[in-house]
Amino acid sequence: MDPRAAAIDDRLAGVGRIVAVTGSKGGIGKSVISSSLALAWADEGMAVGLLDLDFTSPSDHVVLGGGGRFPTEEFGVDPVVLAGVRTMSVAYFSGDAAAPMRGGDVTNTLLELLAITRWGDLDALVLDLPPGLGDIALDVVRLVPRTEFLLLGTASRVVIGSVQRAVRLLVELRAPIVGMAENLRRDGGGEVEALAAGSGVPFLGAVPYDPALEDALGDPGRLRETDFFDAVRRIGREVAGRAGTATSPPGR
Ligand SMILES: Nc1ncnc2c1ncn2[C@@H]1O[C@H](COP(=O)(O)OP(=O)(O)O)[C@@H](O)[C@H]1O
Ligand SMILES: [Mg+2]
Repeated sequence: MDPRAAAIDDRLAGVGRIVAVTGSKGGIGKSVISSSLALAWADEGMAVGLLDLDFTSPSDHVVLGGGGRFPTEEFGVDPVVLAGVRTMSVAYFSGDAAAPMRGGDVTNTLLELLAITRWGDLDALVLDLPPGLGDIALDVVRLVPRTEFLLLGTASRVVIGSVQRAVRLLVELRAPIVGMAENLRRDGGGEVEALAAGSGVPFLGAVPYDPALEDALGDPGRLRETDFFDAVRRIGREVAGRAGTATSPPGR
């Protein structure tokens, strides 16, 4: 057994809830919503961590305005604090360089990050997952089985099917699901809500398309003023209020 797997439990011993944001497809807002969720919780006085697990295109540090910062080391690595959120990302080590990784490297990097990061005491740790339910998601379920999944979907037909598959996979893995949220909500809508209802998963809210988001990226102060952030804050309260409720819905 990899000794780092045992170290992970120690590193996460002071962490309350662990919430992984997933949704299977890329480009549906997992990173902006993960980062904003962590920021919203920190604003409410919670001690919050944010771990960017998209190793090929890490972006949480960009959302929270963390360019050029480096973690300090002493018996492990301290997260970089951005706008009150304790963040960790491969970007702090690889900078702008591409980090090509094959299957084994991905698991190794995940093990390494989980084994070295000194989160300290946290009310919640948010995991920003890469697109797809591949190595990273499977490893998270294996290495940190108490992780609760927050599924993100959009009303697009190409997304709905993949979110449906994600629910089925998480059910098969018996991974806890805290709920489902919709991003890029258009008028009408309701597809993601219907999917949640049909899957036996709580629907936690919808985030509108917000043209003001792009210019607010990297500036937490401006981010907080967007309609986008308001909606994420509400979803954050829903998730926070559901401590201990996440279960895998019965398979169907
Ligand atoms: N609700 C929204 N309103 C406006 N732009 C959004 C919204 N959600 C996501 N975006 C934009 O879509 C792009 C992809 O978002 P990102 O969080 O990187 O997706 P993912 O992590 O799922 O690949 C980013 O440019 C982001 O700013
Ligand atoms: Mg992302």
